[in-house]
Amino acid sequence: MKAVNEMKLQIESRSVNEAFARAAVAAFAAQLDPNIEDLSDIRTAVSEAVTNCIVHAYPDSVGKIYIWAGIYENGLFKVRIKDKGCGIADIRQAMEPLFTTLGGERAGLGFAVMESFCDKIKVTSKIEKGTVVTLEKIFSGRSATDDRV
Ligand SMILES: Nc1ncnc2c1ncn2[C@@H]1O[C@H](COP(=O)(O)OP(=O)(O)OP(=O)(O)O)[C@@H](O)[C@H]1O
Ligand SMILES: [Mg+2]
Repeated sequence: MKAVNEMKLQIESRSVNEAFARAAVAAFAAQLDPNIEDLSDIRTAVSEAVTNCIVHAYPDSVGKIYIWAGIYENGLFKVRIKDKGCGIADIRQAMEPLFTTLGGERAGLGFAVMESFCDKIKVTSKIEKGTVVTLEKIFSGRSATDDRV
């Protein structure tokens, strides 16, 4: 299936860029005329994925984060967040709620949030090569309540 429209963004893994990434993806998604809840969900999921690149993929350096977003027929929105960082040894374990390799600092809930806020999430990773997180969400369209002042 080919995207109706798509965009690419490359940012450095600096924490100041997390807000930019989530705002940029949300601005692109706006053409789907999403309701407030769907837009908020995708912002939160992107924020978690980008934060993971910043804190986990490149823990002691600044690396590149590659973001791609695509709009498909029937309100399907896909976002891919890719890094060339340290990679994940055990993806299944990493995705378990409360699992974190940064104990004390982190809750281990990022993947759980992405899963609950999106319709689908796919993670592939290779040690020392990097990680790709693909998020999919079907935007259900504007709700009547969005027009209330
Ligand atoms: N892009 C990535 N590169 C390398 N490791 C990652 C990446 N994303 C996640 N991980 C690993 O998966 C674990 C779980 O990620 P998750 O986002 O669920 O929790 P967290 O980041 O540890 O905590 P929280 O997101 O609640 O602050 C991380 O602790 C880390 O070990
Ligand atoms: Mg996280």
